Amino acid sequence: MDKLIIEGGQPLHGTVRISGAKNAALPLLAATLLAPGWHTLHNVPDLRDTRTMLKLLEILGAKWERSGKTIRINTDKMTGVEAPYELVKTMRASVLVLGPLLSRSGFARVSLPGGCAIGARPINYHLKGFEKLGVTTRLEQGYVEASVTGRMQGATIFFDTPSVTGTENVLMASVVSTGETIIKNAAKEPEVGNLIDMLNAMGAAIEGKDTDRLTVHGVERLQATESTIIPDRIETGTYLIAVVATGGMVTITDCNPTHLPALTEKLLLCGADITVADQAMTVSCPEVGSKSRCRLRSIDITTLPFPGFPTDLQAQFMALMVQGDGVSIIHETIFENRFMHVAELKRMGADITIEGTRAVVRGIGSDKLCGAPVMATDLRASASLVIAGLAATGTTEVSRIYHLERGYEQMVEKLQGLGARIRKVSE
Ligand code: EPZ
Repeated sequence: MDKLIIEGGQPLHGTVRISGAKNAALPLLAATLLAPGWHTLHNVPDLRDTRTMLKLLEILGAKWERSGKTIRINTDKMTGVEAPYELVKTMRASVLVLGPLLSRSGFARVSLPGGCAIGARPINYHLKGFEKLGVTTRLEQGYVEASVTGRMQGATIFFDTPSVTGTENVLMASVVSTGETIIKNAAKEPEVGNLIDMLNAMGAAIEGKDTDRLTVHGVERLQATESTIIPDRIETGTYLIAVVATGGMVTITDCNPTHLPALTEKLLLCGADITVADQAMTVSCPEVGSKSRCRLRSIDITTLPFPGFPTDLQAQFMALMVQGDGVSIIHETIFENRFMHVAELKRMGADITIEGTRAVVRGIGSDKLCGAPVMATDLRASASLVIAGLAATGTTEVSRIYHLERGYEQMVEKLQGLGARIRKVSE
């Protein structure tokens, strides 16, 4: 397996380009199953997870070709309706083919994703939504079998908590139903909006984008279209945090600053400088006192559905707060086990105590974090360890970096371009 070797203490300088959003690419790739013909998707990131989704689409009968950041997919011939366990266990977002397959062929057999490092990750809201639309679901040997005779009927669906992929799955099931579907307490993440734009371009009639109440007027059929994946706001936030954690000044291009309201606010409160342009953000950490790095104020955060602080940036922000000038309370409200990075950060000298869903981070200042061998446990935890390694004094080795490669396109090359002393080696 590969690992990263990081020589810390090097401020980041320069310009970095943001890739397309993993969590938009996955639902939009799945949505190509809704209509036959050639679909074109621009700005698709080349990641472990997007390659997994393309493999799943192939298993279902799709043909695809990549040219740079553009992927063309033909879904004329659907030869399969099953998403196998071997594949779903490596990427739970495979469940996003359920909605499109029900719309396209009235049947789907998808392995239950099972839990992952950060939590149980159930899909009960997805299944409850399908059942309201007239779908019959049953669990059989770890698989969900979902079927409907004829077209689904529009219904009113209420989500107990806003689920991102749950909203996306129910949207893709309801677009060709009869009648009208109202989705209440829908997720408002920008990635859901990206999917709504693609579905409407395919001929769907969805109102309420960016709100928690979506109205879907069922249509007879959809047609293939051309769409563009939005910039990855979590990748953007990861680089913003990395610059503040290491000092320096970086311009981040091809991003959407409006997708990061909560993080931007928190970084300004920490003492960072951020200037915003149309599709770019410049972040720096003004020198404070004699230190070559900004004196970071310790700030509390609580993770919430969009537009609240994203759970996908919680681990990265914790790596920053480790260097704060006081105590930061980090409250994780979305997933039940998203503190796997804490033990690894403590190996580097961090002072963190977990109290239920809260982590109490006592800042140790910007020169007491020490490099060490650490192990990645999940995608965002691995980004947290990279940030800590970049900021620490000495050498950090991050193992199991296949987690990182699921969601960050060319992270090592992008960081090297910013002057980081980081390289990938085989263990
Ligand atoms: C999406 O996961 C993202 N993944 C996650 O990003 C992200 O952390 C999460 O939304 C929250 O923003 C993709 O978009 C592919 P949820 P999703 O359904 O849809 C509970 C990353 O690092 N829930 O919004 O699976 C659930 O357990 C990944 O890129 C149910 O109880 O998350 C959680 O507590 C990690 N039953 C909460 O709702 C359900 O049927 C929100 O989960 C569905 C969800």
